[in-house]
Amino acid sequence: MTHSRLTPSLVLFAAFLLFLPSLRSGLEAQFVARDPGPRGAPVGAGNPIAGLNNSQTAFFEDGMLRFGEVVSVSGTLLGEVSPGLGPGFNSNSCGSCHSQPATGGTSPSTTAYPFVGPNPQVAVATLDGATNTVPFFITLDGPVREPRFKYLLASNGTLSNVRDGGVHNAFTIQGRVDATMVFGMTGGLQTCQLPQPDFQQMNHLGNLIFRIPTPVFGAGFIENIPEATLVANLQSNGTMKAALGISGHFNRNPNDGTISRFGWKAQNKSLGLFAAEAESVEMGVSNEVFSDERGYPPVQPPAECLFNGTPEDHTNMQAGNDGAQATSNAVEFANFMRFLDQPRPACSGSGCPQNVQNGRSVFNSVGCALCHTPSLQTAGSSFSTQLSNAQANLFSDLAVHHMGSGLADDIIQGTAGPDEFRTAPLWGLGQRVFFLHDGRTQDLVQAIEQHSSAGSEANGVVNNYHHLSEAQKQDLLDFLRSL
Ligand code: HEC
Ligand code: HEC
Repeated sequence: MTHSRLTPSLVLFAAFLLFLPSLRSGLEAQFVARDPGPRGAPVGAGNPIAGLNNSQTAFFEDGMLRFGEVVSVSGTLLGEVSPGLGPGFNSNSCGSCHSQPATGGTSPSTTAYPFVGPNPQVAVATLDGATNTVPFFITLDGPVREPRFKYLLASNGTLSNVRDGGVHNAFTIQGRVDATMVFGMTGGLQTCQLPQPDFQQMNHLGNLIFRIPTPVFGAGFIENIPEATLVANLQSNGTMKAALGISGHFNRNPNDGTISRFGWKAQNKSLGLFAAEAESVEMGVSNEVFSDERGYPPVQPPAECLFNGTPEDHTNMQAGNDGAQATSNAVEFANFMRFLDQPRPACSGSGCPQNVQNGRSVFNSVGCALCHTPSLQTAGSSFSTQLSNAQANLFSDLAVHHMGSGLADDIIQGTAGPDEFRTAPLWGLGQRVFFLHDGRTQDLVQAIEQHSSAGSEANGVVNNYHHLSEAQKQDLLDFLRSL
């Protein structure tokens, strides 16, 4: 038989048979649910709560300015007006790490939002003559990262079994023009010599973990949800939670025993405490709450790296009665965060497109909402009526849950164990770029899949998610990106 003797219809039939398998799998693969990616303009966060009065607005604006201020060692370099940077630091202003999609947010990314710029930690490493090398886990298009070590090293350089868990500094002030001081008529010289930690070695020892910044939009609402409301919410839907393997408990402040709620493990009690601690651990600025200079705990900072009296940030006694001017930076950071409004979703309720409305029902029906509580009510607030008895649409129970071996970072903070994390609030998720505590993914599908591993309380819910049709999964993802 030659080619010429094949009838045209036979050729067609042969071609059909040949392509049938790929046609069939093509039809099946035709639709796979995907993260639609970060939502574009308008930016739904970064404004003050609507309706603040003039003096509250003045505190917000002053706080925002200070939140964005760049800190230097002496506070005298051009454009770097606040003193106290270092000896160790992770960046040089609150706003550098909390910037996306607006001041108060989280890790910037040029890929999704060119206007917020790349990871600021690359430039800050060598700013003003600093001699830091950029550690391997910090890249221009990756998330801002804060390193933590799980255990202390023994004197012979191996891992000890004593837990560390604290924040360490990616950078030091060594080499900066303002980390050298000539003093007196003698012309004596004080120069800071302080090498960076050996991150390669820590990584090699399996001792290194990362945290990315959590956004602070709506933080004043989170601060003001009463303990009774949190406890009642965690106890609600008990049968359903038990059937799915969800329990959870609160992290509590070790000193006064009340629920703590900020940070990836809900390790910090309040905005005042978090602001002061961040000022100390992220920028190296001593303040009225964390009053000494920090070295590489438990190792003290070298004396030649200390250039200022302590605390570096403090109440301004010269300001007399001028409210916002008299307060320390740490207090003003907290006021700014307190008055930042909760993120605005793209739409609400029946005003949302059908797919988003469907997605919200899927979110409830598969059990996401059993941890990610859509809304909780605040108590009366002495700061502003807007923070009083308000609905905080945070999508979190503020409890910590076992999240399994895949997410575990082997860090204990308060009563939050090695694999326990605070249910991450999902408000503002639509305009976020990096997800999960270490910023391991930019893909919401991955963020959901990662909830599932040995020992995770979310395994039952992820199993429900796996049983959804691709169309239902898509509605869920569209809903998440509307937040
Ligand atoms: C080097 C980057 C960096 C800088 C600079 C920085 N932060 Fe953060 N911020 C983080 C990271 C990382 C976390 C999450 C830490 C954790 O939970 O372990 C965080 C979390 C927070 C939170 C907790 C919010 C929540 O709901 O969980 C607050 C509040 C906060 N930062 C305030 C500040 C303030 C105020 C400043 C300036 C004094 C500041 N941060 C400077 C990286 C930074
Ligand atoms: C058992 C409680 C629990 C359940 C159920 C749960 N989550 Fe989470 N979720 C968490 C915790 C805890 C984190 C933070 C984990 C981490 O960063 O290591 C988180 C993080 C996330 C994040 C990343 C947020 C961020 O800030 O990076 C997304 C997105 C998310 N959850 C969506 C979902 C969806 C969708 C479902 C339902 C399919 C779901 N979650 C079910 C507890 C839960």
